[in-house]
Amino acid sequence: MREWERKIKDKRVKVGILGLGYVGLPLVREFCSGGFKVIGFDIDEKKVKILNSGRSIIKHIPDKQIKRIVKNRQFEATTNMARLKKVDAIIVCVPTPLTVNREPDMQFIIKSSKTISKNIRTGQLIVFESTTYPGTTRELVRPILEKSGLKAGKDFHLAYSPEREDPGNKNFTTRTIPKVVGGLTKKCRDTACELYNTVIEKLVPVSSLETAEATKIVENVYRCINIAMVNELKMVFDKMGIDVWEVINAAKTKPFGFNAFYPGPGLGGHCIPIDPFYLTWKARQYGMPTRFIELAGEINANMPSYVISKTMEALNKHKKSLNGSKVLVLGLAYKKDIDDLRESPSIELIELLKEKGALVDYNDPYIRRTHKQRQHDLKMVSKKLTAKALSGYDVVLISTDHSSYDYDWIVENSQLVVDTRNATSKVRKGRAKILKA
Ligand SMILES: NC(=O)c1ccc[n+]([C@@H]2O[C@H](COP(=O)([O-])OP(=O)(O)OC[C@H]3O[C@@H](n4cnc5c(N)ncnc54)[C@H](O)[C@@H]3O)[C@@H](O)[C@H]2O)c1
Repeated sequence: MREWERKIKDKRVKVGILGLGYVGLPLVREFCSGGFKVIGFDIDEKKVKILNSGRSIIKHIPDKQIKRIVKNRQFEATTNMARLKKVDAIIVCVPTPLTVNREPDMQFIIKSSKTISKNIRTGQLIVFESTTYPGTTRELVRPILEKSGLKAGKDFHLAYSPEREDPGNKNFTTRTIPKVVGGLTKKCRDTACELYNTVIEKLVPVSSLETAEATKIVENVYRCINIAMVNELKMVFDKMGIDVWEVINAAKTKPFGFNAFYPGPGLGGHCIPIDPFYLTWKARQYGMPTRFIELAGEINANMPSYVISKTMEALNKHKKSLNGSKVLVLGLAYKKDIDDLRESPSIELIELLKEKGALVDYNDPYIRRTHKQRQHDLKMVSKKLTAKALSGYDVVLISTDHSSYDYDWIVENSQLVVDTRNATSKVRKGRAKILKA
């Protein structure tokens, strides 16, 4: 048995997770429950402090889980990157957003690679999990790591394994979602698989780094395009007086050949609105267009404007203009039952409503106040939901269909409801007040 395998078997491998966010933290939890010691690295001092005090930073990871692993000294967070030398494996989960010009913003990948390069030692396993275009690990990360003087595939192992985290999904966890793994060499891949094998139920080894990188992008392109299709059909069917949600629910009774996707107020989250454009950017280097992605992006990006025009239509029927109307946006998170507002269409809806002169409030049980984001700073606080407050708004706009909302009660107490999620489908009383958008 190789020393690495022996160390894994005896749980002596020390795991370093670089980037303690929505992806990094669930991984920390998995490796800790697998019996490993984990050091979490992040540049955010506040986050590190919170974690070390035994509190969580993500709604769906309870404080008690963090408290337990901190207390029994299995986990510790740090901003001291020199300690990267102390771990046997470094798993990188840093952000990969788009720039304002909608091109890959590689600053976090580059900075974290430089940090690792300064602290790397022989024998370590380095795995990148951040979503990115095919070629990143070989063409961008590897040269930076090799500036250390060590050679990838010889002195250290280099692999890529995309994260498929789905925050808030109760049916799957990091452990039960099959994990795709590609390596610079077969040995790099196998070394990564040996480690992941201890905490992930099913691994899917693939032949190269690029295949693993492309797999993740394909998954998100698939969702982006299918959502765009139903968003377009929503507008077409609306003109024909057909309810697209009813159509989709009927279509999905076909036991094969159809996967249901649902329309909404626009795309949100860290992945689907962003990742496909990583491929578009890379494809340009090969002189290849990505027309499906561009078209889907165009349709999805137009959704908030469509919702605003439907809201105006709804108010118009009540002889009101959007300018000066009081609007309550229900749900700020980018999807239901989570506390993440990154790229949330609700933000754009609020900005568009304000631009048109509406007086806008929001309510979200998971987001008490908005925080500054890269491109937005709403500076708003969630309003309390009471029957009196609801009835004071000219229109209530359902943007995120959190399960905790009582939709019967909301419709009963509102003057007018614009529903972008079909959240009110089961409401019986007051249907005349509802307009789907
Ligand atoms: N959130 C999801 O549901 C999800 C799902 C699948 C894949 N992904 C991908 O995983 C990656 C991470 O996403 P996330 O949602 O966890 O992001 P996040 O913003 O929640 O967390 C990233 C963390 O990395 C830290 N960080 C940034 N630069 C750093 C550096 N140089 N060194 C150390 N730490 C640094 C940040 O402070 C932050 O805490 C992205 O590529 C994303 O596309 C995310």
